[in-house]
Amino acid sequence: MAFDEMKFQSVISEFSATTEMLREVATNFRKDLQIGLKDPKSSSMRMLKSYVGLPEGNEKGEFLALDFGGTNVRVLRYRLEGEGQSKIIRHVAEPLIIAGKYDYVGKGSTQEQMFDFIAKLIDDTIEGEHETKFYLGHTFSFPSAQDDLNNAKLIIWTKEFATAGVEGEVVNDLLLAALKRRGIENVIPVAVINDTVAVLLSAAYKNSDVFTGSIYATGHNTCYLEPSIHDPKGFGKGGMILNLECGNFMNLTPNRFDRAFDRKSEKPGEQRFEKMVSGRYMCELFGMAIAELLDEDKHYDNLTSVDMSMIISDVSENLEKVSEIVSNKIGHHLEVADLKKIQDLAAAVVIRSARLVAASYVGIIWQRAGEGEIQPQHVAVDGSVYEKMPLVQENINRAFEELLGEDAKKVDTILDNGGSGLGAAIAAAMAV
Ligand code: GLC
Repeated sequence: MAFDEMKFQSVISEFSATTEMLREVATNFRKDLQIGLKDPKSSSMRMLKSYVGLPEGNEKGEFLALDFGGTNVRVLRYRLEGEGQSKIIRHVAEPLIIAGKYDYVGKGSTQEQMFDFIAKLIDDTIEGEHETKFYLGHTFSFPSAQDDLNNAKLIIWTKEFATAGVEGEVVNDLLLAALKRRGIENVIPVAVINDTVAVLLSAAYKNSDVFTGSIYATGHNTCYLEPSIHDPKGFGKGGMILNLECGNFMNLTPNRFDRAFDRKSEKPGEQRFEKMVSGRYMCELFGMAIAELLDEDKHYDNLTSVDMSMIISDVSENLEKVSEIVSNKIGHHLEVADLKKIQDLAAAVVIRSARLVAASYVGIIWQRAGEGEIQPQHVAVDGSVYEKMPLVQENINRAFEELLGEDAKKVDTILDNGGSGLGAAIAAAMAV
């Protein structure tokens, strides 16, 4: 079969984001920030206080970092050496779900199972040493309400997590209880931060002129340093970092596929921006759009962002890789012209994502600049989509140029690889 050209064009156009649309997104994003600064409840973003500002860069010592925010949990032992330098002394990582073996994130799982598993990873990282005191920074990458740096209550699961008994609870209390069950009393959690905050701390430890931290991976979210907020219970300099939880940003127009996917997601109505841009969801939208091109009333939910990346990267004449993925996962043998359309569709979904994310960064840059000049700055980003997905970085830059004009020269994005681990160690150092 050959795809209907009109239908193809109409699907592609649903994924396009013009400069005007981006300008509107950036403007609305900034407005929501302003509203949220006055009253977080009136903004579509949660704008959560982190009780931490920027590090000095001279923080030193050995700290544990728990990085818990996706299906892979990591525990690291860091030595912070000051002057932006650090070393990983030990690193343990395990998935929270292995199909057919165990699942600590699905509906049937409990908080005890999940935190016992994490306590075991911590035990592996300290190699069973139950005497020496270890201070632990915890990167917990879900919306959490804090009233100081160490107390964070999970507001709501995101990223399709559904483990029972965690929403509404103080996560470090659950962690402490699990450590205790395992006989570990020498690991002392002292800080909980969001992964975006971790990325910002990590990047600011090493560079100057970084005020924004972002994750562009399975999930998507951004934080920034708000100079007007100071709190006696906070640590660090320059004001307070706000975790925007901008995955929940709502003032933008979802297309037909976005709306249809949202309806069948774990939490309909929530995280609308994240569902349009992040790795966990882009492949779902892609799978739905492919079904439409095939005139099938179904949803291919078995595609991954890695598949999309490979599809986009295929430069072979007959699109062999695209063909292989389409026949393995969709069960169709398509002619090259249709494979090319599938490739273009993947690119369109990714480009829209990168442009919308860039517009959200511009909203923050405008907000920080206020009436004044835009300051030279780097937006620190971590995450597989930013790091590895073709077309993403160049399209962020292009959108910056469209929205910022000459000022785009003052702004760039930098990869802060592994920031969600290092940032937790830095937060622990700042707290003690
Ligand atoms: C989700 C979480 C948020 C996190 C982001 C990236 O949006 O709600 O807290 O920062 O994923 O991991």
